[in-house]
Amino acid sequence: MKTIDNALYIGDVPVRQIARAYGTPTYVYDEQRIRANYARVAAAFRTQYPDFHLYYAIKANDNLAVAAIVTGEGAGIDAASVNEILLAKELGLDGERVIFSGNFLSDEDIVLGLESGVIFNLDDASLFPRVMRFGKPDLICFRVNPGYGKSNVGDFVTNAGPNAKFGVHPDQVLDAYRMAREAGIRRFGVHMMPGSCVTDAEYFPFVVGLLMDIVGKVGATLGIDFEFIDIGGGLGIPYRPGEAPLDLEGAARKSVEVFRSKLGEYGLKPPRLVMEPARAIVGDAGWIVGTVHSIKRGYSTIIGTDVSFNVLVRPALYDAYHGIYVDGKEHGPRARLGLCGQLCENTDFWVRDRELPADIAEGDIVVVENAGAYGYAMSFRYNGRLRPAEVLVNGASHELIRAREGFEDMTRGVRIPARLRK
Ligand SMILES: Cc1ncc(COP(=O)(O)O)c(C=O)c1O
Repeated sequence: MKTIDNALYIGDVPVRQIARAYGTPTYVYDEQRIRANYARVAAAFRTQYPDFHLYYAIKANDNLAVAAIVTGEGAGIDAASVNEILLAKELGLDGERVIFSGNFLSDEDIVLGLESGVIFNLDDASLFPRVMRFGKPDLICFRVNPGYGKSNVGDFVTNAGPNAKFGVHPDQVLDAYRMAREAGIRRFGVHMMPGSCVTDAEYFPFVVGLLMDIVGKVGATLGIDFEFIDIGGGLGIPYRPGEAPLDLEGAARKSVEVFRSKLGEYGLKPPRLVMEPARAIVGDAGWIVGTVHSIKRGYSTIIGTDVSFNVLVRPALYDAYHGIYVDGKEHGPRARLGLCGQLCENTDFWVRDRELPADIAEGDIVVVENAGAYGYAMSFRYNGRLRPAEVLVNGASHELIRAREGFEDMTRGVRIPARLRK
């Protein structure tokens, strides 16, 4: 986002123009930013390890237009569910361009996953015999819980370590691969998802080392050559003012150093190195444009906007911080104010007491930043407040990429039994 004459722009489009054209609240994504982010992540690792491949974790932002930008750059898809496999298919990706990292899968998930021919990334050893009841995948990958997890999002958002529901316990990994090999599987990958929004560059080589010690022992004991080693996502972006960004290039260089040295230590054949980031690609490339509808001056001053927590749940769910800007007013005097959405929930506060433009007024346009990942994808309908529109900006052009929900979405699929009708 940039400011020209006090007006806020996303790409080269004034946010006021977005609000006029599409209404509010509206998610806006900057195509050029997504492409630049992708290029940076890919280059950071590829310059260190040329056989490096990206799978975009589509859960973070499943708008097909956004995902098409990322897959157009060369990414595969990391799918958390069968429906996300189907999204990948819509983008022309199937087979081993898709890695299926669901957890606690149902039989139906397994059957549909097998039919689609994607890479099965199994979250637990117990899933393997269940998969084999329905068919034999060509390649098997287990998600390893390396025993340690880290999150800047909040203590409860942990993808790995003893409190996480994810991944195979380190002590069970060897037996999991042994079981797969004894069942006749000959192609293997391994995966971990070590954290969420990590901005500490030292963490990545540390956790790659943990994974590689597990993988090395499996490879050496069972004589398995891993085709790929997937070190997950978790590349963080700064959300708070003054927060240091991740030294991405440093994280990549040090991770690959550890990776290569452990390959040597355990005598493993160099596999493909895979990552499946999402936040680092789309997180800072998305904003929400909203409107101030009403201001209450009571116990405190509360600015009421149409950006409620059904639109972006991260602050209410994780106590997450998002920068908020007011179009045309960022350079004037500031005052400590509260800012909320329109839900009948008292957790629907963006901020209770933050410095915002003192002259903020009804009708002003507000912009919430860093909303590109885990934003719309986690939005929902509540209080009759519907999911917003999504718009893609490319330079000075802008277009709708998902229509705003309407009342018909509230009643779709709902049936009132005849006995309850008047
Ligand atoms: C299995 C898996 N891979 C990749 C990601 C993407 O992570 P991030 O957005 O932190 O890069 C997630 C996010 O939760 C995940 O669960």
